[in-house]
Amino acid sequence: MAIIISSGLITIHTDHTTYQMKADELSTLLHTYYGPRIDDTDMSQLIVPRDRGFSGNPYEVGMFDKTYSFDTLPLELSAFGDGDYRITGFHAEDHLGARALRFRFREAKVLPGKYGLPGLPAVYAKESEAETLEVTLADEDAGLLVRLLYGVLPDCDVITRALIVENEGQNPVRLLKTASLSLDFLYGDFDLITFHGRHAMERKMERRSIAHSVHSVGSVRGMSSHHYNPFVILADKNTDETHGQCFGFSFLYSGEFLFEAEKDQADSTRVLMGIHPDDFTWDLQPGDSFAAPEVMMSMSGEGFGLLSRNFHRTIREHVIRGPWRDRRRPVLINNWEATYFNFNGQKLLEIADTAAACGLDLFVLDDGWFGKRNLDDSSLGDWVPNEEKLGMTLKELGERIREKGLMFGIWVEPEGFSTDSDLYRKHPDWATIVPGRKPDLSRHQLILDFTRKDVQDYILERLTSIIREGGISYIKWDLNRSICDKYSALLPVKRQGEFAHRYMLGVYRILEELLRSFPDLLIEGCCGGGGRFDAGMLYYTPQIWCSDNSDAVSRLVIQYGTSFGYPASAMGAHVSAVPNHQTGRTTPFKTRAVTAMSGTFGYELDITKMSGEEREEIRRQVGIYRELNSLVREGDYYRLSTPDDVCTVWENVSPDRTEALVSGVWHGVEANPPVFYVKPQGLIPDRTYAVSYLDGDSDKTAAVMSGAAIMAGGLPCRMPAMEYDSFLMKLAAV
Ligand code: DGJ
Repeated sequence: MAIIISSGLITIHTDHTTYQMKADELSTLLHTYYGPRIDDTDMSQLIVPRDRGFSGNPYEVGMFDKTYSFDTLPLELSAFGDGDYRITGFHAEDHLGARALRFRFREAKVLPGKYGLPGLPAVYAKESEAETLEVTLADEDAGLLVRLLYGVLPDCDVITRALIVENEGQNPVRLLKTASLSLDFLYGDFDLITFHGRHAMERKMERRSIAHSVHSVGSVRGMSSHHYNPFVILADKNTDETHGQCFGFSFLYSGEFLFEAEKDQADSTRVLMGIHPDDFTWDLQPGDSFAAPEVMMSMSGEGFGLLSRNFHRTIREHVIRGPWRDRRRPVLINNWEATYFNFNGQKLLEIADTAAACGLDLFVLDDGWFGKRNLDDSSLGDWVPNEEKLGMTLKELGERIREKGLMFGIWVEPEGFSTDSDLYRKHPDWATIVPGRKPDLSRHQLILDFTRKDVQDYILERLTSIIREGGISYIKWDLNRSICDKYSALLPVKRQGEFAHRYMLGVYRILEELLRSFPDLLIEGCCGGGGRFDAGMLYYTPQIWCSDNSDAVSRLVIQYGTSFGYPASAMGAHVSAVPNHQTGRTTPFKTRAVTAMSGTFGYELDITKMSGEEREEIRRQVGIYRELNSLVREGDYYRLSTPDDVCTVWENVSPDRTEALVSGVWHGVEANPPVFYVKPQGLIPDRTYAVSYLDGDSDKTAAVMSGAAIMAGGLPCRMPAMEYDSFLMKLAAV
């Protein structure tokens, strides 16, 4: 049994971790432990009550016990206004205007399987794979009830947490902050690891020490954002890839979020994660309820590598849904960097022709095929094929592409809204504009009000009809601006603070409906690249375009950072032209392929202009990737070095551990350089592996060694013959 409830003590076990809470004599729900697996010992013994000045005491005990304080106790639900002066996860205003909450434990029960959340992404599992713990707390004065939901996946060492808030009183209540996660560590000296960036340079890892202050990352951009990712790690100071304790938190939400960490007066650390409160209110009338999205957490006692693999596996098997979860992903050709807006039907068919001859699977028609869109300044919203530009109907284009043996995919930006569009001229009130104010434009565009059901229905109807007409198998769902001027013409004044979350619910509804109507449709998420690279999106889109930066060397950094929280099978990665359009850098063709093969793999360049030799090389690369596809999709991922090393090396190991691929890219060349060694991981110690290089001319066995010898002694990486040289090393059990 994963969850044990025994007179107020609630213990959750996964295979290698334990999480515990306890309702005490005042019905306060204490958090008592999260760490490596232990037995059912009551860990509240570790709490040392102390009288700390200015940390007050609840009325019931205040006259005789100055050591009991909400300001110092580790709490399972931290709420504002009850004498806890740390960062708190739950804020609400009652009908008196008061913001003072005190939640008392009511009951706890275990439910079979994993709970779901209405209208929101959530980890899913078979009944045999998971259990749910539901803990109910209430503030009877405010009339508020909170159900804390924990989903326990013992095999994955993952616990999720979400909350449902119900107004069971007689008066309205306004929610101001509903952090889905609130977790206290009694002691510890932690580092916080976050993944920051910007458009075209996302998810760069940054590590800093948690000091006596509040550290936070978040987004109020209407999306999880390029700038801070909703995946963070808390780690002991000495933790590295293979040693030490660390805790990871991933928010299954693609909208505005806030992660906070605070080390308090007594050196305890609290972390919170949830919807960003700066841009959120939610009015609850009597009888109403509100679901806060889910946080997925995991801990590793063996460094970051294992922590990442816990998240990879959970996302691969329990977040990504539908047939594409287990299917070989198509190798695609996308026309964006080949043509930008400058194409016609003939050019597209030429690209498709060459792609088919090179053995690719899917042709993706990117931006510019609809309305009058020949630049990024018009037509978003007018989702009608531009037959004049295409020289044919979308139906015919689809048919001709399929005749070549390729699937047909298409780019859309459903949330975008051009002021120069028929839709805007007809429905100006569908834009998110604050009445009387000039809106902020970005890439010349506005945002459609996705909080509105009529807007959602319009988009659904348009997308459905395009998918049917074109025989579309794949959609790239893009969004190309941050969202501000948040206002909906249909929401009442008091509910405008609900815009950002309602907007996200609208996006999720459309995605869900599309998948219901077209279960085989493969949707690739995109937000100017990786502006919505989060576990929430992966519930709908099994892969996400990782970044608008397709430069192989930049991608080493971006994909390295991304790999901490997300599996390789989710990372959209393409081979593009050189000099690279974003950085101007020239890298070898082979290296661009090696980097892209560590994701979903595809090409985004004008292959019609490539030489016969280069096309032959594409055919070879596609052949290699076909063989590797399941290794990348299902295998375990190991980071063997970092982008700060002279050579970035990573490894994919098959689930049965008989095959591994070690990929490496050199990004510094020196004369007479030292040999660079890496230690592959995850092999079977007493099996023998043949080590060979897959790429190019040196396709011959380099060594035959036992798994134990390879893992302990390491392997030398083939020396670079030129700048940005790379290798693909295959390890196969013989
Ligand atoms: C941003 C995307 O990330 C690109 O790949 C491309 O689809 C453009 N938008 C098209 O406008």
